[in-house]
Amino acid sequence: MSPREKILAIKDASPLILPSLLLCDFGDLRGELDLLEKAGVQALHLDVMDGAFVPNMTYGMPIVEGLARHTDLPLDVHLMIQEPARYVEQFAAAGSDLITVHIEACSDLRGTLRQIRDLGVATGVALNPDTPLESILPDLDLCDLVLCMSVNAGFGGQKFNSIALEKFQQLVEIRRNQELDFILEVDGGINVETISDCFAAGATWFVAGSAIFKQECYTQAVADLVAAAEQ
Ligand code: DX5
Ligand code: ZN
Repeated sequence: MSPREKILAIKDASPLILPSLLLCDFGDLRGELDLLEKAGVQALHLDVMDGAFVPNMTYGMPIVEGLARHTDLPLDVHLMIQEPARYVEQFAAAGSDLITVHIEACSDLRGTLRQIRDLGVATGVALNPDTPLESILPDLDLCDLVLCMSVNAGFGGQKFNSIALEKFQQLVEIRRNQELDFILEVDGGINVETISDCFAAGATWFVAGSAIFKQECYTQAVADLVAAAEQ
């Protein structure tokens, strides 16, 4: 199965909770993987930051590669880096199943998405809260996923911005009218209070950092998020 096929196999899972490996214990990644697998998560969200596109730095290809070696869970790699086209080949080789790039960071979004698809990897486009939806409309046909940020990309633990909800409502319409088939993912400030509005607006994939890693028990945290979404 190609990486993209691995993502397409779970695209209709809903609600799907993706733990964001930003606030986890990087000194014990195997232990964290173990706990997340026991919690029954179906994919992992990896936040790559370059200190240029966003004012924060995290990790790059070696962490993706190390995780890929120790888990079969699909890896949803969120690139918060300037001109990601420079690195998509390396992130694909490291074991990414889905690569999401920011519209604000790409001089040629369409070319970048094509490059990712040509590598057999699923494509995602992300947009920050202040970025209008119109900016991605011409390229939706090349997207397996659209990520509406509900915080400004860069840090975990920020407050949910409801502007993402309007974007989901519009994207659901566009998807239906244009007979497209992308996944709708939300990232930032997702917790048991904010998740149900996103689910109602049409999002089905939910990235959660604090709502999992700041909790005592990951299994409980994931179950609580699923229950809250469906409420
Ligand atoms: C922020 C990252 C998120 C972040 C979410 O730029 O893309 O994935 O880890 O963290 P919470 O859920 O704490 O907002
Ligand atoms: Zn993210």
